[in-house]
Amino acid sequence: MPCPALAAWELASSFGWWMHVFGRHTCSTRVDKWKRMGTSKDAVPRAILCFLFLLCLGCKCLASELEATQTVTLAVDASPQLAQKIPDTLFGIFFEEINHAGAGGIWAELVSNRGFEAGGLHTPSNIDPWSIIGDDSSIYVETDRTSCFSRNIIALRMEVLCDNCPTGGVGIYNPGFWGMNIEDGKAYNLVMYVKSPEATDLTVSLTSSDGLQNLASATITVSGESNWTKVEQKLVAKGTNRTSRLQITTNKKVVVWFDQVSLMPEDTYKGHGFRTELISMILDLKPRFLRFPGGCFVEGEWLRNAFRWRESIGPWEERPGHFGDVWHYWTDDGLGYYEFLQLAEDLDAEPIWVFNNGVSHNDEVDTAAITPFVKDVLDSIEFARGSANSTWGSVRAAMGHPEPFPVKYVAIGNEDCGKKFYRGNYLKFYNAIRQAYPDIQMISNCDGSSTPLDHPADLYDFHVYTDSKTLFNMKSTFDRTSRSGPKAFVSEYAVWRGDAGRGSLLASLAEAAFLTGLEKNSDIVYMASYAPLFVNNNDQTWNPDAIVFNSWQHYGTPSYWMQTLFRESSGAMLHPTTISSSYSGSLAASAITWQDSENSFLRVKVINFGSDAVTLTISTSGLQASINALGSTATVLTSANVMDENSFSNPTKVVPVKSDLSNAAGEMQVTLAPHSFSSFDLALAQSKLVAEM
Ligand code: AHR
Repeated sequence: MPCPALAAWELASSFGWWMHVFGRHTCSTRVDKWKRMGTSKDAVPRAILCFLFLLCLGCKCLASELEATQTVTLAVDASPQLAQKIPDTLFGIFFEEINHAGAGGIWAELVSNRGFEAGGLHTPSNIDPWSIIGDDSSIYVETDRTSCFSRNIIALRMEVLCDNCPTGGVGIYNPGFWGMNIEDGKAYNLVMYVKSPEATDLTVSLTSSDGLQNLASATITVSGESNWTKVEQKLVAKGTNRTSRLQITTNKKVVVWFDQVSLMPEDTYKGHGFRTELISMILDLKPRFLRFPGGCFVEGEWLRNAFRWRESIGPWEERPGHFGDVWHYWTDDGLGYYEFLQLAEDLDAEPIWVFNNGVSHNDEVDTAAITPFVKDVLDSIEFARGSANSTWGSVRAAMGHPEPFPVKYVAIGNEDCGKKFYRGNYLKFYNAIRQAYPDIQMISNCDGSSTPLDHPADLYDFHVYTDSKTLFNMKSTFDRTSRSGPKAFVSEYAVWRGDAGRGSLLASLAEAAFLTGLEKNSDIVYMASYAPLFVNNNDQTWNPDAIVFNSWQHYGTPSYWMQTLFRESSGAMLHPTTISSSYSGSLAASAITWQDSENSFLRVKVINFGSDAVTLTISTSGLQASINALGSTATVLTSANVMDENSFSNPTKVVPVKSDLSNAAGEMQVTLAPHSFSSFDLALAQSKLVAEM
């Protein structure tokens, strides 16, 4: 704001005049001194100067006040002829076995290393995180290769050495994944395989981490015989402890072998083994697809450690498990290929199977030798889609799912485009799958957003992890993409590093802006998912993530909540928007019409990425219905500080806040807070409007 007095003041200051007249004192100290001195000859000009200074200060404050509010108009043209259908598949989720997202995460199994395989095949092996109750004089445990399961032959031999064992007995315990969450009144199903040549009683208990608090226990009598026996025992907790452990103890001097020890909560999502509260976080996103199981997890640092679907199916006791060498942890593969397909079905989401195409981070299969890998993948598709009479479909049916899983999309590898044998291998997989399953859409790892692909593909994968400003500006990336090639699958996007903190509001705003760009380009962007989805707080290998949890708590980061404001976009109608303002470089917006079971809404989403507040006029044209203030709402995601995050102690610091929009109309004014994401749902007077036209 122009201020002549301020200009004079600043000019004087720049010549050092201010220092000369007032020395190092502030204006108020001079005024105080002037009062004490009484009126003097040179005091008058000083008073004028001081007055001018205060005036200018006020002037400057006012100016910055005014500068902090921008006036913007957002025009939405909802004419049916300009509306564009967004693909039903646009927003989904990418689940990777990273950060203990699956093992020790959504997969509810409480025992870690349940088959004692994690230490490898060479015995004796590390039994971590199992440990002993007792000491060297009372108990001796070691692994051997005597299991009854041929694919996972390691078992644990426990020899009790004490004649008069300590009260409470000696034995082994498993702390689960950083402690088991055992809750009062809930039931837990223990299954284990035991072999003991001599009859003995075993006490199985759920206790606190130091063993002192007993939450549940039962005695199991093992009849002495040389064969393995499957033992099943339900334990009902009589208290709550978030960091419990499972103990197996005895007082008798015996030798007992253990293998495949599992403890599952009775209450899991649909009884399918998933942690209910974590699944409900996913359900709130209404994901249209589930990309699984990775990511780098699919590739492995080395091929020998890559995810192998065949090893992850069938009875859980027979799965060998494997060490995921990219994210550095063992998984028993209880959450295997079948369970991923089941999860997609439970979420009502399209399964997208990402398979290894003979390429890891450090080694590759030569295209000349890739045929067995191609056959392996064809078998995996038959496992999912084949009839219950087919070779692999029958295995699925035996696992409890006679109906096929409708796999329509597969991704050939992950981030491997630049690898030596990628293209050669890709074509082998592509041709074989096309021939056997002509309807399956195949996803290439090579980015076709700026240059055409040199190989056939139905979709291409696009990943972006960058700073917030770059991602904000990437909202127009696909504006420039050719409309003639395959469509894009933005299967991994996120703001990371400094701007992300451990999940900041800033990151979510840039991501939201990026997503408005994907909506607008959804004629060629077919699918998009944030990454990674989950993190167990005890193993944050990758930061940031959308959903943070431990054994019993969870919260969504702002990036999670941001996604909830896009959940109605898949399948909705998109309308053109125009922002008129010199501040438009800090804004992003999109508009859709969508319907719930009863009503239609015009949803206008606006991201204010800048630090100024905005007085926004939303003016709508072309709507075929009037806007009802009743039922209209505003939902705002913002916080006092742009780097604010959620946490276990404050899980709702940055969450969307919904309120009524009583002034909703064809033209209306709203205020956008600095650094905010607002979603205005304007209720339409008649239902079933644009979407049906
Ligand atoms: O999402 C984390 C990792 O980022 C994925 O495993 C990989 O695909 C990407 O590099």
